[in-house]
Amino acid sequence: MPEIGLGTWKANETGVLQKTVKTAIDIGYRHIDCAKIYNNQREIGKALKETNIPREELFITSKIFQNKHRPELVPGAVDEILDELQLDYLDMLLMHWPYALIPEQNTTDFTADEIENVPIMDTWKAMEALVDSGKVRAIGVSNFNKTILEKMIPQCRIVPATNQIEVHPYNQERELVTYCQSNGIVITAYCPLGGGKINVMNDDFIKRVADAHGCTPAQVSLSWLLARGIIVIPKSNHEFRLKQNLQTVTLTSDELRMISHIKTHERKVDPKNDAEQLKWVFHEDEAKCPVI
Ligand SMILES: NC(=O)c1ccc[n+]([C@@H]2O[C@H](COP(=O)([O-])OP(=O)(O)OC[C@H]3O[C@@H](n4cnc5c(N)ncnc54)[C@H](OP(=O)(O)O)[C@@H]3O)[C@@H](O)[C@H]2O)c1
Repeated sequence: MPEIGLGTWKANETGVLQKTVKTAIDIGYRHIDCAKIYNNQREIGKALKETNIPREELFITSKIFQNKHRPELVPGAVDEILDELQLDYLDMLLMHWPYALIPEQNTTDFTADEIENVPIMDTWKAMEALVDSGKVRAIGVSNFNKTILEKMIPQCRIVPATNQIEVHPYNQERELVTYCQSNGIVITAYCPLGGGKINVMNDDFIKRVADAHGCTPAQVSLSWLLARGIIVIPKSNHEFRLKQNLQTVTLTSDELRMISHIKTHERKVDPKNDAEQLKWVFHEDEAKCPVI
């Protein structure tokens, strides 16, 4: 799994994403992070069709949406993703969130009564079968907390290869990162730059470190994540930033330690902050954990 990938969330202005993906591949990106719910996979598919880079040199991740968790719906969901991306197989398929929605709800604008109880292991076993069939090379999860993983791992025939979660200097997730890494689960950081909302790139200390290295705060954030053994998938629509995000720097051990001590704690992504039923997703201590 290439350690720097291209994020594609909210990058769906018609024509722009196709050009961005093409440019990214031309300048060296080999890992593209996609998802059904981003509603832009057809554009990505067009760019993938255009490139001369052999398929086996690319690493393409996608994610099944919550309305396809019923095990009988999983194979069709992946066929749809493959059709949109114009691919024969995915390198990585993720379960996007650890909760399910009714099949009729295919947007993030759901109500609490559209959440349904599909055991996570039922969905996971259907994903394991897709590895056997060759349609996906590896499977993983996203937005999974430690409590769920602890219950899930003993039941898995294939342990999740990755857990894609929000990590940046303002949401460090130390306990979850350590737990996953010590169980052979690679962490992939989404919103590694703060997602355009969390103010990581204006942090005074990060700006000072950037000045010391003659680089940008974005490069400091990415370099700090890579130094923790975390894969990063920054998104940009600008060629100069795409290039910049590939050029990371070596931070000193003092700088790494000081960034790890930043106290500000802010998260960008929430499953749905007004749905009491989903509070357990990020607040596992109060957890009413779902059926695994
Ligand atoms: N699994 C999940 O639930 C989940 C949730 C969220 C995101 N993701 C994935 O993770 C990817 C990354 O997260 P994200 O897109 O939310 O946020 P991000 O990559 O942290 O930040 C993207 C923002 O930073 C800007 N940016 C990019 N490079 C920059 C640079 N070098 N200097 C200054 N600004 C820069 C971008 O603007 P420009 O485009 O204008 O350059 C954009 O506004 C997503 O695209 C998606 O693939 C997954």
